[in-house]
Amino acid sequence: MTLSQGSHTALPEWKALAAHAANAGARHLRDLFREDPGRAERYALEACGLRADFSKQRLSPDTLPLLVRLAEACDLPGRIAAMFAGEPINTTEHRAALHVALRAPREATLRVAGHDVVSDVHAVLGRMAAFAEAVRSGGWKGHTGRPIRAVVNIGIGGSDLGPVMAYEALRHFTLRNLDFRFMSNVDGTDFAEATRDLDPAETLFIVSSKTFTTLETLANARTARAWLLAALGDERAVARHFVAVSTNAAEVAAFGIDTANMFGFWDWIGGRYSMDSAIGLSTMLAVGPERFADLLAGFHAIDEHFRTAPLAANMPVVHGLLAVWNATFLGAHTIAVLPYDQYLKRFPAYLQQLTMESNGKRVTLAGRVIDDYETSPVYWGEPGTNGQHSFYQLIHQGTRLIPCDFIAFARSANPLGRHHDLLMSNVFAQAEALAFGRTAEEVRAEGVAEALVPHKTFPGNRPSTTLLAAELTPHALGSLVALYEHSTFVQGVIWGVNSFDQWGVELGKVLANRIVPELESAAEPDLSSHDPSTAALIRWYRARRKK
Ligand code: F6P
Repeated sequence: MTLSQGSHTALPEWKALAAHAANAGARHLRDLFREDPGRAERYALEACGLRADFSKQRLSPDTLPLLVRLAEACDLPGRIAAMFAGEPINTTEHRAALHVALRAPREATLRVAGHDVVSDVHAVLGRMAAFAEAVRSGGWKGHTGRPIRAVVNIGIGGSDLGPVMAYEALRHFTLRNLDFRFMSNVDGTDFAEATRDLDPAETLFIVSSKTFTTLETLANARTARAWLLAALGDERAVARHFVAVSTNAAEVAAFGIDTANMFGFWDWIGGRYSMDSAIGLSTMLAVGPERFADLLAGFHAIDEHFRTAPLAANMPVVHGLLAVWNATFLGAHTIAVLPYDQYLKRFPAYLQQLTMESNGKRVTLAGRVIDDYETSPVYWGEPGTNGQHSFYQLIHQGTRLIPCDFIAFARSANPLGRHHDLLMSNVFAQAEALAFGRTAEEVRAEGVAEALVPHKTFPGNRPSTTLLAAELTPHALGSLVALYEHSTFVQGVIWGVNSFDQWGVELGKVLANRIVPELESAAEPDLSSHDPSTAALIRWYRARRKK
């Protein structure tokens, strides 16, 4: 049996782990800590300014060695090497997945099909920096000679979620006299609300789209063009108020944006792995080229750690293996990501695309339908402490197993009296309560009435990882994102799926394009090709779409 054809469940290492999960997977964290008080240090990893405490995961002494053996049996080291070598590991699209080249230092060499791409990356970074400096300094003038005061990024998926997450995460470092907006939804409300108080003469649109064929983005970009021209009345204004970020120069030109105002990237970067490419132009405009370079350095530090550290001491590897352990071997359906930093409020949304578009797959690289194990869990989350007053009840006392990633920083960008200590006391307390709970005996010892004892008992043994860094700087953000990027890849390798394609989004797009004329046609459309439910929904809408 070769790995690519058979199921990974046939591997002796998989079987050993499954047997171990049946025996040891339910061992209580209380007992594990009692037996080994040193596990707090044993299961902590430090890399590139990040500290990951994995000790509150359901790890018995044998678990991590077994996970590492499974990783070796799935040839994780070979797959990591293949990624860094620019091999076409995205096999269904015949492409490399070389996002690590985006943050490689100028003197590095990384090749795709024999071509060194690092110099291409730095050439684009140089153009981005010159443009960013011109806009930030007011040197870049709008069509009427006024400086730019508002930047609107138009994009969706990876061309939106990374930029908006990074903007919010690094807001503390942004130039406050530039107003940043992010428009993604084809819902006209998104356009209307994003532009309603903007002055066209002072607004710059960045049309961000890898393919430059995405329906939502092009619809918003066309409306933006019309909005601008309605105010400025001159086609030449487009050149001063629109720039494009894309891999598709022909479509950019066809849209009417001069390719001199285009910042390129390449098909070997997946959309959800592109926030540090030219797709990060809004980030660079907001924080400036130097801080953008710090962000890239943070990514690169984790890349090097991922490439070189032994598997058991490799933070993205261990993080990814624990996601597999929880989702596939312990049966967790979801993972909650809980940043204790308000600036990371869009981080869970960003991670949803990264993880679920990457590993939400039911077919292996060899095309075998996976019917014998679960792949990606659902990722979700909200900043702490808000989530505590909402859904944490279920995590503590519900019937489901929900592993959590807590993310927190030693210092706040906005130190205000006791606020940060209060925030941090909560993150530590939540992880502690989830792991150790409160037994019925402990509850009784507090004098609680017997009828309330079951209600006030916390079972504990709810696993979590705590990720810490000194401060939420551009460097720390880059490292954090790279950690999750590589963890996602690790998970995909163990599940045997292609983490870099996304065929699952295509069918809905095709069907939507078929339905558009059926909604808009003046004549009654033939709906016989639809199922009865869809046909009835279309008829209902057609009857009411115009007042
Ligand atoms: O539909 C999904 C998707 O292809 C994502 O993978 C991608 O990030 C998004 O659409 C946007 O695509 P583009 O950047 O080509 O507009």
